[in-house]
Amino acid sequence: MEKKWTQLWLKYDKKQDAGNGAFVQTVKFCGFDTKAAVVANAWKELQRGVSGMLGIVPALAGDGTENPKMVIALDAETVKKEGYRISCNDGCLKLEAADENGVLYGVFHVLRLIAMEQPLSKVTILCEPDNPMRMYNHWDNMDGSIERGYSGNSFFFEKGELIIDERITDYARMVASVGINGVVINNVNVKDEATWLITDRYFAKVAELSNVFAGYGIKLFLSLNYAAPLELGGPDSADPLDEDVIAWWKTKMAEVFAKVPNLGGFLVKADSEGRPGPFTYGRTQADGANMLADIVKPYGGIIIWRCFVYNCTQDWRDYKTDRARAGYDNFIEMDGDYHDNVILQIKNGPMDFQIREAVSPLLGGLKKTNQMLEVQVAQEYTGQQIDLCYLIPLFKEVLDFKTYCKPENDTVADVVSGRTYGNKNAGIAAVCNTGNDENWTGNDLAAANFYGFGRLAFTTSLSAEEIAEEWVKMSLSCEQEVVDAIVNLLLGSRETYEKYTSPLGIGWMVTPHYHYGPSVDGYEYSRWGTYHRADHLGLGVDRTDNGTGYVRQYYEPNASMYNDIKTCPEELLLFFHHVPYTHMLKSGKTLIQHIYDSHFEGVEEVEAMIRVWNGLEGKVPFCAYEVIKERFARQLQNAKEWRDQVNSYFYRKSGIADEMGRRIY
Ligand code: GCU
Repeated sequence: MEKKWTQLWLKYDKKQDAGNGAFVQTVKFCGFDTKAAVVANAWKELQRGVSGMLGIVPALAGDGTENPKMVIALDAETVKKEGYRISCNDGCLKLEAADENGVLYGVFHVLRLIAMEQPLSKVTILCEPDNPMRMYNHWDNMDGSIERGYSGNSFFFEKGELIIDERITDYARMVASVGINGVVINNVNVKDEATWLITDRYFAKVAELSNVFAGYGIKLFLSLNYAAPLELGGPDSADPLDEDVIAWWKTKMAEVFAKVPNLGGFLVKADSEGRPGPFTYGRTQADGANMLADIVKPYGGIIIWRCFVYNCTQDWRDYKTDRARAGYDNFIEMDGDYHDNVILQIKNGPMDFQIREAVSPLLGGLKKTNQMLEVQVAQEYTGQQIDLCYLIPLFKEVLDFKTYCKPENDTVADVVSGRTYGNKNAGIAAVCNTGNDENWTGNDLAAANFYGFGRLAFTTSLSAEEIAEEWVKMSLSCEQEVVDAIVNLLLGSRETYEKYTSPLGIGWMVTPHYHYGPSVDGYEYSRWGTYHRADHLGLGVDRTDNGTGYVRQYYEPNASMYNDIKTCPEELLLFFHHVPYTHMLKSGKTLIQHIYDSHFEGVEEVEAMIRVWNGLEGKVPFCAYEVIKERFARQLQNAKEWRDQVNSYFYRKSGIADEMGRRIY
């Protein structure tokens, strides 16, 4: 049967040999059992990749006198957990791995080099994951829909059932190939059938799925409904300190881990956007998280507790309440109270995955608590996989951010990797952008984000450019001219998107609920706490000492830097300050002129991207070419709509004309 989905960067089409074929003809394993699931899958993958790309079927070498060209050996002494070393000596390629996951990742590395047509003979590399936990979170519902999904329906669920088919295996291969070792399959908003995933109704399938994942070194996690006791016929409460509730969870978890022993644990969205949680019972977030954590601990389980807790029924007239403050205010006081198998999962910004916002001060703000970064690969606010927006530069910016929580090792990357405070329960999670579309991600170019997040989580020092180049070579073309053109498109795309949407860190201005396309005042008088505060004189949210005081959630010198309009980074100007339209920017332009110029430029840049893309006709696979071309056409429409609505809005508010006299409505 022909597959109704592509193989993305694992397509293994014919490649130039670059002398690589010589190494992968006979392979010998030392210290690894080739029948163990992960090693067996690694071996299968090596055969599949090499035969596809080089037309050679690698053979397994026995213990005899053969002279294997490639040796895969155990080295748990000088290589760290999940890591591997690849080297080439005297015509023999050596892959030394710390454990089975290391073998799998090392094999995928070898295949990546072959796919990129790079000579294996030149490689000497030690790769050890920077983050212990590298996770994808899927917001898939059991009816098959996906919250904030832009690539079709779920491939995990359909009509209230789990699907376990070949596509699931391909998914596992795909994410394992970039080093992902944990996956949450269901939406953080756990409702209806999903609450029942921890019952007999689903155990068999959940266990089966966890085994498929385990074969690729991936732990399955589930999102948990905090109010499960009430909904599954337990006590009439979810109070974390209530003995009956605790007893109910104990029985439940004993059952869950007996039936699904490979389960990694749970992700919990509590007291957030209407989801139940400990606040209902006058308890703290720590009470809730610790209760569950203590119960799953004997099974090696982990509780990942989200910090997206804020007041979503705010009055827009209220200038004191600041949604940006909420995460920190709700979690900082209990720093140190969370048990060691709890991890707090913190979104990169204090608001919600905008194209530009400040870095959450909770990251690094917490000093005695396991923490994990959450980013969004799904393009909810960043073009919904219609518009091109390569997000790795944004993620890198966040990871490189200096928190000043300590004199050294104080970047977000340090904190979430566990380096800063020596935590082992740490890492990065991303909301995934996949669905059951043939090309997985709607826009073929959005697969660069799907690929890139994993690579970045494994090796944080990789540049956005390196990651883009790898992805293009494996997915679209190895022809340097084509590679350069596409890499440039990717690298410029975030700034282009930012130019034609909301300016200088203010965020939103999107169509309510749907979050695609402009609606400048769409959320301005709503309950969500996402205001731009524009009037006839200026715009922006005052989060300084004179405003909401949010700036004080940062350590110095960040707090003072943001507090002062003269030192506040301009790309975040409107996030931190309410600024007159006539305010002069470093570029020598007024704020209003910057808004006009950037919006005209944004559209021009999309037009330029389209010209580049049209020039690639015939040089990339036809299907991808056509899909991307169609997406670009929609992006241009979107960009124009944004330009015209934003410019007209601010012209009408301010009464200040564009210096260049361009068309504003
Ligand atoms: C955003 C998003 C929701 C999601 C929420 C979350 O608000 O729009 O769909 O549920 O984030 O992260 O929990």
